[in-house]
Amino acid sequence: MSSVFTWGTGLVGTWLPTFLLVLFITLLVLGMFGGRPKNFPPGLMILPVVGSFLSMPFGPSLEVLRGLRKKYGDMASFAIFGTRIVVVSSVNLMKEVFGLRASTDRPEVFFSTHRNRIMTDGRSTAIGVIGSSGQVWQEQRRFMLHHLRDLGFGKSSYEPVMVEEIAELMDLLKKEEGRPLEVKLLFNRSVVNIIWAMVMGTRYHYGHDKLNKLMANFVHTAEFNALTPLYHIPHVFKIMHYLPRHSKGHRFMRRLINFIKEEIKEFMDNEELKNSDNFAAVYLREIEKKENPNFNMDQLSALIFDLFVAGMETTSSALTTAVYLISKHPHVQRRLQEELDEMVGKDRLPSFSDMDRLPYVQATIHEVQRVLNFVKFSLPHVANQDCKLGGYDIPKGTWLLANLDDALRSSEYWKNSLEFDPQNFLDENGKYKKNDAFMPFGVGKRVCAGESLARLELFLFFTHLFQRFTFSLVEEHKPIAEDNPMFASPPEYTATIKCRSI
Ligand code: HEM
Repeated sequence: MSSVFTWGTGLVGTWLPTFLLVLFITLLVLGMFGGRPKNFPPGLMILPVVGSFLSMPFGPSLEVLRGLRKKYGDMASFAIFGTRIVVVSSVNLMKEVFGLRASTDRPEVFFSTHRNRIMTDGRSTAIGVIGSSGQVWQEQRRFMLHHLRDLGFGKSSYEPVMVEEIAELMDLLKKEEGRPLEVKLLFNRSVVNIIWAMVMGTRYHYGHDKLNKLMANFVHTAEFNALTPLYHIPHVFKIMHYLPRHSKGHRFMRRLINFIKEEIKEFMDNEELKNSDNFAAVYLREIEKKENPNFNMDQLSALIFDLFVAGMETTSSALTTAVYLISKHPHVQRRLQEELDEMVGKDRLPSFSDMDRLPYVQATIHEVQRVLNFVKFSLPHVANQDCKLGGYDIPKGTWLLANLDDALRSSEYWKNSLEFDPQNFLDENGKYKKNDAFMPFGVGKRVCAGESLARLELFLFFTHLFQRFTFSLVEEHKPIAEDNPMFASPPEYTATIKCRSI
């Protein structure tokens, strides 16, 4: 009797070779010629059409990406089908490569292409700031940073808004004293409110039904991996959201788009908000001028979406990780509380102006971000012209990844690279020591647009939390996860809170 699994005669025997042949011809017809060009950086074997499929049929794992520098050097390459990818390592080379205009564009990735298509009902695939390229990116980023800075973005003048949010969170935490608390998503609402005050001039209270529903279905960035081979088959984006693996992320994206569109509609109906000083109002006035068609309602929705996504999960993941790592290292918690008690005291709240007098606190916040290592290879960049980088010839269309992971973990840059140890940021006199390899916000012209805001937020949340409370870990459900080679997922755990006598 012949089995369906018998090679040569059964279903597998008939269909698999035919399927592979059809796939091969299809890829060929679609023009996915690849192969290693002349003077291209060394790396995994790159064959025409299939790229590095033979070395990594399921795409690169974190382990593969981490091994590239050691094996092939600071410019190391591989390919996913026809997409050639170069991983750029070493602090100085990353600064050089990502400081060039030639490396500033973004490739088409599922998340933004798909988001833009849904958001604009198919009108555009190149909007927003995170995923856009060329002139659109330059104009939108410049406008966004300029006007957000005017509104206090990343400046100490914004401190009262943050303090108000943190105070409300503290009141909530006080009520939870002694009970095991699920820390997951604890900080999201406060972090969104800090962005929203500037962007929309509003905030959400704890019982806000729409935001709570959105958060209940929250899908982490780590669900999206731009290096998944499937994403590199041309035209696949059009059908991908029907596939089961992507439907959860797709549903969340739709929910978030609807949420943002409804918020904008409510905003437009509110004359007071529209006439006040907030980012959405300033942007609407720019649209009304009709001087540049790139400023339109689709762009406004995309920018608000970008600020929500980029600003919320990154900052709240860092805070969730801070409480986790510090609960696990009671000696660190003791030492930073001693410093807070000595330099700030218990009669007033810490403020930005205390930053320079709190070296251990500063070192600990940096160390949390170093260990979390949230965005490991930056967001993908793409060469927008044929260029020479690091002595190699890089054809237009090559993806460029910044090896932030290596900068944050290599013993070349850190005393104690694989442990959580705030000493990594302290000199022999206990003073805070800057380290150029600290690059969690990326590097070069596309460095995180929210870095200054995130740094201030982290400092203020962190100091207020540990001045008021002592945290103890109760149960660890999941440590910091690295299943996705591009993004970490914050740990999942329960902790108890004890109020400190103030
Ligand atoms: C701990 C917090 C944060 C971390 C670790 C972080 C990290 C990053 C990284 C690695 C990039 C990619 C850089 C590149 O492609 O080379 C990025 C981009 C970006 N971030 Fe952040 N981020 C944080 C917080 C924020 C906040 C609070 C905002 C705004 C409210 C923000 C807005 C953005 C935007 C708009 C971009 C896209 C920039 C561009 O493409 O030109 N981020 N971030």
